Amino acid sequence: MKTKINRREFVRNSALLGVAAGLTQATALTPLAQNKGSRPLVVSSANGLRATQQAMEMIRAGADTLDAVVAGVNIVEEDPKDMSVGYGGLPNEEGDVELDASVMHGPTKRAGAVASLRHIKTPSKVAKLVMERTDHLLLVGEGALRFAMAHGFKKEELLTEEARLVWLHWKESMSDRDAWGPGLASPEGSSTSSLFKARPDLLALAERFRAQPPTGTINCLAVNERGDMSGTTTTSGLAFKIPGRVGDSPIIGAGLFVDNEVGAAGSTGRGEENLKICGAHTIVEMMRQGMSPTDACLEACKRVAGSYNHNQAKLAKFSINFYALNKDGGYGGAALFGYSLPEKDGNRRRSQFAVHDGKENKLHELAYLYEAPDKM
Ligand code: GLY
Repeated sequence: MKTKINRREFVRNSALLGVAAGLTQATALTPLAQNKGSRPLVVSSANGLRATQQAMEMIRAGADTLDAVVAGVNIVEEDPKDMSVGYGGLPNEEGDVELDASVMHGPTKRAGAVASLRHIKTPSKVAKLVMERTDHLLLVGEGALRFAMAHGFKKEELLTEEARLVWLHWKESMSDRDAWGPGLASPEGSSTSSLFKARPDLLALAERFRAQPPTGTINCLAVNERGDMSGTTTTSGLAFKIPGRVGDSPIIGAGLFVDNEVGAAGSTGRGEENLKICGAHTIVEMMRQGMSPTDACLEACKRVAGSYNHNQAKLAKFSINFYALNKDGGYGGAALFGYSLPEKDGNRRRSQFAVHDGKENKLHELAYLYEAPDKM
C-alpha cells in the first residue's frame, strides 16, 4: 500500500531537503515518497522485475527469504543481456569479468560475500555458501574461485561476444599513444567503428559505455509475512576497472545490510561513493531511529552529495541509488538525480526501482535530491 504525500508535507520535506543539501536547483519528493507497509514485500533495483517476481512466488510458497532473493537475482546473473551483473557483465580493463556479491540472512544474523570472483556465473550463490559452509564472511579472487569449485561450480567463460566488443571499443579508444586500434596506415583512420561491422546495433551502446563506464548492479531485499528479512547484492562492478578493484556490493554495511528487528537496505551505482558513507548500514540505523525507508535513503543520498560539497557538476558524473524496506513492509528508494541525461530520443529516463507488494509487480519512481543533471 502506498500513500500519496500531501502538499503540506511535500513542501516541508522539499524545503528541508533544499536547506540541508544547499541546493541551487528545484528539489522534489515524488508522490511515492512515503510508502506504508504490507507483507510480504520484495524490492529491487530497476533491472530486477524478474527477480522480485521470482522471490515473491517463492516466499508465497513458504521459501526462506534468502533462498528467494538469491533465486531472483540468479535470473539476472545468468542473463547475458544485463551487462552489469554476472554472465555477460562488462569486464575489467584487461577483458576479464570479475564479479562481486553479498548476502545477508536476517533471522540467523549471518552474512557471506565474494569479491573479484572470476569464471562463476552466479556469485550470489557462492556468497551464500561462504555464509553457510565456512567460518569466514568474505572470500576474494583465486581463493573464492577455488572455494566455488570445491562446491561443484564449473569454471566458465563469462565474457560474451557483446561484452568483448564493448570492451575492445573502450580499449582501442583509450589513447592514440598506444598501439591498440587501427594504425597509421589504416585507410579508415583511427576510428574503431569497423569493430562493429557484424554488429552495428552495438556501436551506440559501446560508445555510451565508453563515455561513462557503468556500475549497474542488482540489489534485492525481501520481507515475508512473519517479518523475517534477507537481501543480496550482486554485480560485475565498474566496467573496465583496474583488476582487483572492489566496489560496495560485497561489503556488508555498504552495498547491503539487514537487521531483522529493523529493516534492510542496499545500493546500486558507483560503489566508491557508497563505501565512504557505509550507505546500507546508515539507512538501517536511521530506520531504527524512526525514519521512513524513503527518508533514510534520501539521507544517504545527501551524505554522498556532501562528499562533493553538493557540487552538482561533479555529482552528475556518476549515479547512485539506495533501496530500503522495513519490518512492516514499508519501502522506499532514492537517487541523487530524478532523471537521467537526455537519451538518444532526447528524453530523460526517470530513476526507478522494482517493487512486488504481493499484488502488483512494477517499477516505481525513486525519490531524489536533484531533478536532473544539466550536463556532464
Ligand atoms: N555498485 C557496484 C560497484 O560499484 O561495483
